[in-house]
Amino acid sequence: MAGPVARLGRAYDRLFAAAYDPVLAGPERAGLGRARDTLLAGVSGDVLEIGAGTGANLAHLPSAGLTSLLLVEPSAPMRRRLARRVRERADVLPGDTRVVAGHAAALPVEDGSVDTLVSTLVLCSVPDLAAAIAELRRVIAPDGRLLLLEHVAGHGRTRTLQRAVDPAWRVVARGCRLVRDTRTALDRGGFDTSDVADWTLPGGGFTGPALLGTARPR
Ligand SMILES: C[S@@+](CC[C@H](N)C(=O)[O-])C[C@H]1O[C@@H](n2cnc3c(N)ncnc32)[C@H](O)[C@@H]1O
Repeated sequence: MAGPVARLGRAYDRLFAAAYDPVLAGPERAGLGRARDTLLAGVSGDVLEIGAGTGANLAHLPSAGLTSLLLVEPSAPMRRRLARRVRERADVLPGDTRVVAGHAAALPVEDGSVDTLVSTLVLCSVPDLAAAIAELRRVIAPDGRLLLLEHVAGHGRTRTLQRAVDPAWRVVARGCRLVRDTRTALDRGGFDTSDVADWTLPGGGFTGPALLGTARPR
């Protein structure tokens, strides 16, 4: 029988999923949506998105060029919203579009089989960043691309503020970390990040420092 902590966790998961789109509506209008458009314009081939959430990226995918789309998401309440959005957009998504339960560190695909990986606002939340990056490196095709939009650790006073807020933020934002040096982790994990720009998430505050662009396997 589920204990009270597990029940509370599941109730918070449902609340988080319900609040996600309303909370992001302002940043999406302020530039996050445009950044998704720019980032995803080049999506093609067999595509795998980790932490697809409520499906915020679906409306920003190009209407041609995708062969298949695999949407991996661990949270059941997020997945329900995602599946609904997939159904609503079935006429413009590839026929082979699937929503599956799963984590970035254990992807249900063969080595070197994914042409385009998509990770937007996810690598901050994976429990083990190096393990997730190793898995992305395993599944990406030799000439594949990893499209990234991720908030990361900043510098100076921003980093000091992030360190102070991080313990509470982790709890409120379901494991999200403010102080990750994701570029260094990607470089160490076998990706070339020279086409990944430093960026600022609109309305981000302590989640402002960000990365935006395309990493490639080295
Ligand atoms: C901030 S939301 C981002 C959702 C979506 N990618 C977007 O751009 O709006 C983070 C998502 O990552 C998912 N997530 C958390 N841990 C994960 C993991 N280990 N592997 C894959 N996804 C994860 C969460 O359930 C959540 O849906």
